[in-house]
Amino acid sequence: MVEVATSLLSIDEEKSIQTIYDIEVAGTDYFHIDVMDGKFVKRDTIELMRKYTEYIKQIANTKIEVHLMVKDVLNFVKAYIDMDVDCIMFHVEACRSESEIADIIKYLKDNNTKVGLVINPKTEINKIFNYLPYIHRVLVMSVEPGEGGQKFIENSIGKIQELNKYIYENGYEVDIEVDGGVNNENAELLSDAGANIIVAGSYIANSNNYKEAIESIRK
Ligand code: DX5
Ligand code: ZN
Repeated sequence: MVEVATSLLSIDEEKSIQTIYDIEVAGTDYFHIDVMDGKFVKRDTIELMRKYTEYIKQIANTKIEVHLMVKDVLNFVKAYIDMDVDCIMFHVEACRSESEIADIIKYLKDNNTKVGLVINPKTEINKIFNYLPYIHRVLVMSVEPGEGGQKFIENSIGKIQELNKYIYENGYEVDIEVDGGVNNENAELLSDAGANIIVAGSYIANSNNYKEAIESIRK
């Protein structure tokens, strides 16, 4: 069975405390925090996501995973390590060199935080193969990062299949997570392809029953 990570990007800010509580009660497996710096992507959600993370810490027990869509990765890695989150994921496209990626992976592990690498729709999946022995999770983007509520990009299914095959053949233990445009209709295809964590934002935020929405993705 897949796990569900609920993205808070599309929730109503004014009702955010109640919504976070309701999503927790509805049984999400993770809260997915989308940090955007206005540079790597257009939008800036730095303050909003800091606030949501603090709320979650105050009222929920569910694990927090942070999706960094930022240029200055290490700066944000440090800030979120201080907030004691479960997993921090950063884009390979944001890094200037392989050694920068390796250094950030090491920094996260030295600080007892799970590491995820994120890959954009246009980046080939084999770009992250070298890092698989050292990381916990790969986040395959199925939309261009930057906004919630976009249409799912189909080629991510093939990428997940290829990644899943490579992980299996090499005996690695790495989660495959998919992010963007997921709903109850395409979730099963993604889990069949090998994804074991599914991010859903607008599908859950716009539903009138969070529990049913989360469960419809799980099955
Ligand atoms: C996009 C974000 C996603 C997204 C998910 O940049 O990383 O987490 O908001 O939202 P939906 O499910 O609406 O695509
Ligand atoms: Zn995300």
